[in-house]
Amino acid sequence: MSNDVIERAKQHFANLVEQQLARVDKMKQGEDWVDYEKLKPIIIGVCWGDGIGPIISQETQRILSFLLEDEVKSGKVEFRTIEGLTIENRAKHKKAIPDDVLEELKACHVILKAPTTTPEKGDQWPNIESANVAMRRYLDLFANVRPVKVPKEGIDWMFFRENTEGAYILGSSGIQVTGDLAFDFKVITRQGAERILRMAFDYAAKNNINKVTVVTKANVVKTTDGLFLEVAGEVAKDYPQVEWEGWYIDIMTAKLVDPKRRTQFRVIVLPNLYGDILTDEAAEFQGGVGTAGSANIGKRYAMFEAIHGSAPRMMKEGRGQYADPSSLIRAGAMMLRHIGFDDKAEKLEMALDVCGQYEKKLVITGRDTGATAEEFGNYLMETTMDPKLKEKWEGYVK
Ligand code: IPM
Ligand code: MG
Repeated sequence: MSNDVIERAKQHFANLVEQQLARVDKMKQGEDWVDYEKLKPIIIGVCWGDGIGPIISQETQRILSFLLEDEVKSGKVEFRTIEGLTIENRAKHKKAIPDDVLEELKACHVILKAPTTTPEKGDQWPNIESANVAMRRYLDLFANVRPVKVPKEGIDWMFFRENTEGAYILGSSGIQVTGDLAFDFKVITRQGAERILRMAFDYAAKNNINKVTVVTKANVVKTTDGLFLEVAGEVAKDYPQVEWEGWYIDIMTAKLVDPKRRTQFRVIVLPNLYGDILTDEAAEFQGGVGTAGSANIGKRYAMFEAIHGSAPRMMKEGRGQYADPSSLIRAGAMMLRHIGFDDKAEKLEMALDVCGQYEKKLVITGRDTGATAEEFGNYLMETTMDPKLKEKWEGYVK
């Protein structure tokens, strides 16, 4: 019996190695970045998702359509609704992303994705993989870019979280060898590490930021994190003007709450799971995960999402219409910038800051004591039209 068990485990591992080597080969072939300027129409797919997802994604689409009114009219931009990314439909097909939904996604250029339910062992759903994680992998969205800014406290962080490897890529391919022994696997590739590190160093160089912080736990997780750190050293040689340093995730997590140290971090690049955890902590300084957007960038596709979940408790308590759409709208602003509408992105970001952090004519509390998502959306739209928006924003942040 024990030989069989070992053989089965070996076979499992052999299959994973084969899959991953094939992925490395594919990455080595490279791919060109899509040029949005040349695309007509740029197709924006909007996935409604679960829980508060439809409420906040429709609100976000309403604001984006308002800002892109001329572009939609001229045929430069097209919105497409993708309804099938719900937990019911995914459970029915027992797939993280059903095949026909994946085809719809692939027919778009960029995707605005509302939160989706991620099943876990023991809940009412089949234990399928997270739709986010699957989408990031299927569309090769290797960079998860998450900005966090609190101008008054001098916080200006840009996180580059590796998005397709690490502890996530085989997160649903672990093996329960016996009832007593379970393995998960973590994967780092030279190509995967290099492309995210290069993006972080490029960003620093282009924005005259003289500092990149590379976060790992390479002292303990020696092989994979060790490779990530080694590649960081190699990539850094191409950017002599940018200083870099390695930090371990534990002390980094601590120093983020140290007001004297945290303002010195600017560009932070890290493997997948560390990035997942650290960006939630970081978003808390800005007002919580409800205020932070997230861009998932690949060469051919890009997907923009909130960093929070579908808030099933709010829905159960009948408070869905009071959900804060800011996080997804911020992701929408990142999308505008990504596809080349920098002015509109800037306006929307300033309006989000003014309405959400400073002026606060309407406040979202998540209950009927505050504004609804729609009311807040109207407030944001009015604010984007204010000809004095920039002066107003500058007055607040200085
Ligand atoms: C995030 C989320 C996802 C992740 C979950 C929903 C799978 O926490 O985008 O950070 O872990 O990546
Ligand atoms: Mg997370």
